[in-house]
Amino acid sequence: MEKERDRLGALEAVFDHASTRRLADLGVGAGRRCLEVGCGAGGVALWLAAQVGPTGGVLTTDLDTRFVTGHAQSNLDVQALVAGLPHACGAGLNLHYSSLLSTSS
Ligand SMILES: C[S@@+](CC[C@H](N)C(=O)[O-])C[C@H]1O[C@@H](n2cnc3c(N)ncnc32)[C@H](O)[C@@H]1O
Repeated sequence: MEKERDRLGALEAVFDHASTRRLADLGVGAGRRCLEVGCGAGGVALWLAAQVGPTGGVLTTDLDTRFVTGHAQSNLDVQALVAGLPHACGAGLNLHYSSLLSTSS
């Protein structure tokens, strides 16, 4: 668990700046409703929540949400990925974001 937390922290340190700059270029601002898939430790989710403010909202998901900290904000909803996600995508969300997802089977 500690190893994975360190790995996710290292990824955030390397990639979050470029990710948030790209999102800022796309025009993430107050009132947006965002979906993030694969939030890892939640760095981008927290950044999104700060950008959209109290009139917007962020739904962020991961297979394992134990590593997300500091998310006790009313506009940030952290959920384990569920089969109902496609339904959520149609529920008035207007920015969908994912990065560095990798899966194995
Ligand atoms: C490498 S981390 C990237 C975290 C973050 N997006 C970032 O840019 O720092 C990938 C995350 O995606 C999650 N993940 C991988 N496949 C996924 C899937 N199919 N659905 C949801 N989360 C997934 C993993 O659990 C992991 O936390």
